[in-house]
Amino acid sequence: MEERRIILETEDIIKQYKQYDTVVTAVNRATFRVFDGEFVAIIGASGSGKSTLLHICAGLDRPNHGKVIVRGNNLSTMSADELSRFRGNFLGMVFQNHNLIPQFTALENILVPTLMCNKPDLSYEQHLKKLVTTLGIADRLHHLPSELSGGQQQRVAIARALINRPQVVFADEPTGNLDRKNADEVLELLIQTKELLGQTLVMVTHDLSIAERADRIFVMENGNIEPYRR
Ligand SMILES: Nc1ncnc2c1ncn2[C@@H]1O[C@H](COP(=O)(O)OP(=O)(O)OP(=O)(O)O)[C@@H](O)[C@H]1O
Ligand SMILES: [Mg+2]
Repeated sequence: MEERRIILETEDIIKQYKQYDTVVTAVNRATFRVFDGEFVAIIGASGSGKSTLLHICAGLDRPNHGKVIVRGNNLSTMSADELSRFRGNFLGMVFQNHNLIPQFTALENILVPTLMCNKPDLSYEQHLKKLVTTLGIADRLHHLPSELSGGQQQRVAIARALINRPQVVFADEPTGNLDRKNADEVLELLIQTKELLGQTLVMVTHDLSIAERADRIFVMENGNIEPYRR
């Protein structure tokens, strides 16, 4: 039998936030692995550490302890510059609060990752057209984020995460601001793109009907991550 390749692996991740004399342990010895081409969902109560762990896996935040290995690269040993190049080339991120740049139009926001990767021959136009059409934001591209609804901002953030055709897509509640119909459409887009490009998808969601579509579900509880027993 062919052995499945591990694309993402964490070992004993601890992340603590210190404020004055209190320490919050957001992630507590989290160890898990994701195989290449998998769709993994992470569920768990509010405050259980899902966003913190996702940011650490995506190289956006560093743990106090433990290791993150993505595509065989140990993120902990990379400099900030190496990390941002690595993210630009291989990773996409949909933030829970969108994180759009307020002074940039929707289109400019979507294209930001293309400035941070070394894929000169990549033509974005067709991919961009398909993304914005499927996401229903083609007629909003020249608006600022403040001129868009919450759901439209979320869809701009999704287009931005996918524009570079990243190998691993991290999505933090990508359907959180959307009604059922739009949530299902966005999920279909993420799954279709994943199948088409052979991507790996790691998604935080509180929506069990969305998590059920994943190959595997993990649950976070007090900073720990465990396989979810359905
Ligand atoms: N920058 C920070 N400074 C201090 N504490 C933080 C910070 N970021 C997160 N925390 C704390 O870490 C814990 C985990 O937060 P996190 O955002 O990862 O949870 P979550 O599972 O994503 O929750 P939600 O479902 O509400 O998005 C929470 O107790 C939170 O208050
Ligand atoms: Mg969160």
